Amino acid sequence: MNKVLIINASVRNEKSHSRKLTHFFVENWKKKNPEDIFSYREVGLKEVPAINEKWIASAFIPTKDRTEENQTGVEFSDQLIKEFKEHTIYVIGTPMYNWSIPSGLKSYIDQLMRINETWKFRSGKPDGDYVGLLKDKKMFILSSRGDTGYGENEKNEHMNFQTTYLKFIFGIMGIKDISIISLDNEEFGGEIFENSKRKIYQKLEQI
Ligand SMILES: Cc1cc2nc3c(=O)[nH]c(=O)nc-3n(C[C@H](O)[C@H](O)[C@H](O)COP(=O)(O)O)c2cc1C
Repeated sequence: MNKVLIINASVRNEKSHSRKLTHFFVENWKKKNPEDIFSYREVGLKEVPAINEKWIASAFIPTKDRTEENQTGVEFSDQLIKEFKEHTIYVIGTPMYNWSIPSGLKSYIDQLMRINETWKFRSGKPDGDYVGLLKDKKMFILSSRGDTGYGENEKNEHMNFQTTYLKFIFGIMGIKDISIISLDNEEFGGEIFENSKRKIYQKLEQI
Protein backbone atom coordinates (compact mmCIF):
# COMPACT_ATOMS: atom_id res chain seq x y z
CA MET A 1 0.00 0.00 0.00
CA ASN A 2 1.37 3.38 -1.04
CA LYS A 3 0.40 6.79 0.18
CA VAL A 4 0.15 9.09 -2.82
CA LEU A 5 0.27 12.88 -2.45
CA ILE A 6 -1.17 14.93 -5.31
CA ILE A 7 0.03 18.52 -5.48
CA ASN A 8 -1.86 20.80 -7.85
CA ALA A 9 -0.31 24.17 -8.71
CA SER A 10 -2.45 25.79 -11.42
CA VAL A 11 -4.28 29.00 -10.52
CA ARG A 12 -7.01 27.80 -12.89
CA ASN A 13 -9.58 25.29 -11.79
CA GLU A 14 -11.99 23.78 -14.36
CA LYS A 15 -9.93 24.99 -17.32
CA SER A 16 -6.63 23.70 -16.02
CA HIS A 17 -4.96 21.02 -18.10
CA SER A 18 -2.42 20.09 -15.44
CA ARG A 19 -5.33 19.35 -13.06
CA LYS A 20 -6.89 17.15 -15.74
CA LEU A 21 -3.58 15.30 -16.01
CA THR A 22 -3.38 14.64 -12.25
CA HIS A 23 -7.06 13.60 -12.22
CA PHE A 24 -6.49 11.13 -15.05
CA PHE A 25 -3.33 9.87 -13.35
CA VAL A 26 -5.23 9.15 -10.12
CA GLU A 27 -8.08 7.33 -11.88
CA ASN A 28 -5.61 5.17 -13.81
CA TRP A 29 -3.43 4.52 -10.75
CA LYS A 30 -6.47 3.58 -8.61
CA LYS A 31 -7.51 0.88 -11.10
CA LYS A 32 -4.05 -0.70 -10.92
CA ASN A 33 -3.35 -0.08 -7.21
CA PRO A 34 -6.76 -0.19 -5.49
CA GLU A 35 -5.24 -0.28 -2.01
CA ASP A 36 -3.31 2.95 -2.35
CA ILE A 37 -4.37 6.03 -0.42
CA PHE A 38 -4.55 9.50 -1.97
CA SER A 39 -4.16 12.91 -0.35
CA TYR A 40 -4.22 16.35 -1.92
CA ARG A 41 -2.15 19.47 -1.28
CA GLU A 42 -3.45 22.55 -3.04
CA VAL A 43 -0.80 25.16 -3.83
CA GLY A 44 -2.44 27.00 -6.73
CA LEU A 45 -5.98 27.94 -5.70
CA LYS A 46 -5.04 28.25 -2.03
CA GLU A 47 -2.22 30.54 -0.98
CA VAL A 48 0.91 28.99 0.47
CA PRO A 49 2.66 31.62 2.61
CA ALA A 50 6.04 32.70 1.34
CA ILE A 51 8.92 32.20 3.75
CA ASN A 52 9.79 35.36 5.70
CA GLU A 53 12.29 36.69 8.23
CA LYS A 54 10.62 34.85 11.11
CA TRP A 55 10.81 31.60 9.14
CA ILE A 56 14.52 32.09 8.47
CA ALA A 57 15.18 32.95 12.13
CA SER A 58 13.60 29.60 13.13
CA ALA A 59 14.63 27.28 10.34
CA PHE A 60 18.36 27.44 10.94
CA ILE A 61 18.16 26.89 14.71
CA PRO A 62 17.99 23.32 16.05
CA THR A 63 14.50 22.57 17.43
CA LYS A 64 15.81 22.23 21.01
CA ASP A 65 17.34 25.73 20.94
CA ARG A 66 14.27 27.53 19.60
CA THR A 67 12.36 30.04 21.72
CA GLU A 68 8.56 29.80 21.71
CA GLU A 69 8.48 32.71 19.26
CA ASN A 70 11.06 31.06 17.00
CA GLN A 71 8.95 27.92 16.89
CA THR A 72 5.92 29.69 15.45
CA GLY A 73 7.99 30.74 12.41
CA VAL A 74 8.14 27.18 11.10
CA GLU A 75 4.89 25.69 12.39
CA PHE A 76 3.22 25.56 8.97
CA SER A 77 6.46 24.41 7.35
CA ASP A 78 6.62 21.59 9.94
CA GLN A 79 3.10 20.50 9.00
CA LEU A 80 3.90 20.48 5.28
CA ILE A 81 7.13 18.54 5.83
CA LYS A 82 5.37 15.99 8.05
CA GLU A 83 2.70 15.46 5.39
CA PHE A 84 5.32 15.21 2.64
CA LYS A 85 7.42 12.65 4.53
CA GLU A 86 4.38 10.50 5.30
CA HIS A 87 3.86 9.84 1.58
CA THR A 88 5.95 7.68 -0.74
CA ILE A 89 4.64 8.76 -4.14
CA TYR A 90 4.21 12.35 -5.27
CA VAL A 91 2.27 13.59 -8.28
CA ILE A 92 2.81 17.24 -9.13
CA GLY A 93 0.45 18.89 -11.60
CA THR A 94 1.95 22.17 -12.69
CA PRO A 95 1.72 24.78 -15.44
CA MET A 96 4.74 26.52 -16.89
CA TYR A 97 4.48 30.23 -16.03
CA ASN A 98 7.10 32.52 -17.53
CA TRP A 99 9.32 29.52 -18.29
CA SER A 100 9.29 28.54 -14.64
CA ILE A 101 6.81 27.32 -12.01
CA PRO A 102 3.82 29.10 -10.40
CA SER A 103 4.71 31.15 -7.32
CA GLY A 104 2.49 28.97 -5.09
CA LEU A 105 4.55 25.91 -5.97
CA LYS A 106 7.76 27.86 -5.36
CA SER A 107 6.48 28.92 -1.91
CA TYR A 108 5.57 25.30 -1.16
CA ILE A 109 9.06 24.14 -2.14
CA ASP A 110 10.63 26.90 -0.01
CA GLN A 111 8.57 25.66 2.95
CA LEU A 112 9.74 22.05 2.34
CA MET A 113 13.40 22.78 1.65
CA ARG A 114 14.55 22.81 5.31
CA ILE A 115 18.02 22.06 6.59
CA ASN A 116 18.20 18.87 8.66
CA GLU A 117 14.58 18.06 7.73
CA THR A 118 14.70 17.37 3.99
CA TRP A 119 18.41 17.97 3.31
CA LYS A 120 21.67 18.53 5.18
CA PHE A 121 25.32 19.35 4.65
CA ARG A 122 27.32 16.12 4.62
CA SER A 123 29.76 17.31 7.32
CA GLY A 124 27.09 19.07 9.41
CA LYS A 125 28.41 22.53 8.51
CA PRO A 126 28.42 24.46 5.21
CA ASP A 127 30.59 22.37 2.87
CA GLY A 128 28.77 22.63 -0.47
CA ASP A 129 27.94 18.93 -0.28
CA TYR A 130 24.17 18.54 -0.12
CA VAL A 131 22.67 15.30 1.11
CA GLY A 132 18.99 14.53 0.56
CA LEU A 133 17.17 13.10 3.57
CA LEU A 134 14.16 11.63 1.75
CA LYS A 135 14.61 8.00 0.78
CA ASP A 136 12.70 5.53 -1.39
CA LYS A 137 10.32 8.06 -2.85
CA LYS A 138 8.91 8.30 -6.36
CA MET A 139 7.69 11.43 -8.11
CA PHE A 140 5.65 12.10 -11.23
CA ILE A 141 5.77 15.63 -12.62
CA LEU A 142 2.81 16.27 -14.91
CA SER A 143 3.31 19.60 -16.59
CA SER A 144 1.27 21.69 -18.95
CA ARG A 145 2.80 24.32 -21.25
CA GLY A 146 1.64 26.69 -23.95
CA ASP A 147 4.61 26.24 -26.25
CA THR A 148 6.79 23.24 -26.99
CA GLY A 149 10.40 22.19 -27.68
CA TYR A 150 11.50 22.26 -24.03
CA GLY A 151 12.94 18.72 -23.97
CA GLU A 152 16.55 17.60 -24.09
CA ASN A 153 18.33 18.80 -27.23
CA GLU A 154 15.20 20.65 -28.38
CA LYS A 155 15.16 24.29 -29.48
CA ASN A 156 13.66 25.73 -26.25
CA GLU A 157 15.59 23.52 -23.84
CA HIS A 158 17.49 26.57 -22.51
CA MET A 159 14.16 28.23 -21.55
CA ASN A 160 12.92 25.36 -19.43
CA PHE A 161 13.25 26.42 -15.79
CA GLN A 162 10.13 24.43 -14.94
CA THR A 163 10.70 20.66 -15.08
CA THR A 164 14.51 21.03 -14.89
CA TYR A 165 14.18 23.06 -11.68
CA LEU A 166 11.67 20.64 -10.13
CA LYS A 167 13.87 17.64 -10.94
CA PHE A 168 16.89 19.42 -9.47
CA ILE A 169 15.35 20.68 -6.23
CA PHE A 170 13.50 17.49 -5.34
CA GLY A 171 16.70 15.62 -6.24
CA ILE A 172 18.52 17.71 -3.62
CA MET A 173 15.93 16.46 -1.09
CA GLY A 174 16.83 12.89 -2.11
CA ILE A 175 14.07 12.07 -4.59
CA LYS A 176 15.92 10.53 -7.51
CA ASP A 177 13.18 8.50 -9.15
CA ILE A 178 11.37 11.24 -11.05
CA SER A 179 9.27 10.78 -14.21
CA ILE A 180 8.31 13.83 -16.23
CA ILE A 181 5.32 13.91 -18.55
CA SER A 182 4.57 17.20 -20.29
CA LEU A 183 1.54 18.28 -22.23
CA ASP A 184 2.71 20.93 -24.70
CA ASN A 185 1.12 23.19 -27.32
CA GLU A 186 -1.83 24.51 -25.29
CA GLU A 187 -1.47 27.98 -26.84
CA PHE A 188 -1.78 26.66 -30.40
CA GLY A 189 -5.03 24.80 -29.78
CA GLY A 190 -6.74 22.93 -32.65
CA GLU A 191 -5.36 19.76 -34.13
CA ILE A 192 -1.81 20.40 -32.85
CA PHE A 193 -2.98 20.46 -29.24
CA GLU A 194 -5.38 17.54 -29.74
CA ASN A 195 -2.47 15.42 -31.02
CA SER A 196 -0.35 16.36 -28.00
CA LYS A 197 -3.21 15.44 -25.66
CA ARG A 198 -3.73 12.07 -27.35
CA LYS A 199 -0.05 11.17 -26.95
CA ILE A 200 0.20 12.31 -23.34
CA TYR A 201 -2.98 10.57 -22.17
CA GLN A 202 -1.77 7.36 -23.85
CA LYS A 203 1.50 7.68 -21.95
CA LEU A 204 -0.35 8.29 -18.69
CA GLU A 205 -2.52 5.24 -19.25
CA GLN A 206 0.57 3.07 -19.61
CA ILE A 207 1.91 4.07 -16.17
C1 LIG B 1 0.87 33.85 -16.66
C2 LIG B 1 1.16 32.76 -17.66
C3 LIG B 1 2.45 32.57 -18.08
C4 LIG B 1 2.74 31.57 -19.00
N1 LIG B 1 4.03 31.36 -19.39
C5 LIG B 1 4.33 30.39 -20.29
C6 LIG B 1 5.66 30.16 -20.71
O1 LIG B 1 6.59 30.81 -20.27
N2 LIG B 1 5.90 29.16 -21.59
C7 LIG B 1 4.90 28.38 -22.08
O2 LIG B 1 5.18 27.48 -22.87
N3 LIG B 1 3.62 28.57 -21.70
C8 LIG B 1 3.31 29.55 -20.83
N4 LIG B 1 2.02 29.74 -20.42
C9 LIG B 1 0.97 28.81 -20.88
C10 LIG B 1 0.64 27.78 -19.79
O3 LIG B 1 1.77 27.05 -19.44
C11 LIG B 1 -0.46 26.84 -20.29
O4 LIG B 1 -1.63 27.61 -20.52
C12 LIG B 1 -0.78 25.74 -19.29
O5 LIG B 1 -1.73 24.87 -19.87
C13 LIG B 1 -1.32 26.30 -17.98
O6 LIG B 1 -1.57 25.26 -17.07
P1 LIG B 1 -3.07 24.89 -16.63
O7 LIG B 1 -3.78 24.51 -17.92
O8 LIG B 1 -2.94 23.75 -15.72
O9 LIG B 1 -3.70 26.10 -16.01
C14 LIG B 1 1.71 30.74 -19.50
C15 LIG B 1 0.39 30.97 -19.07
C16 LIG B 1 0.12 31.96 -18.16
C17 LIG B 1 -1.30 32.16 -17.70
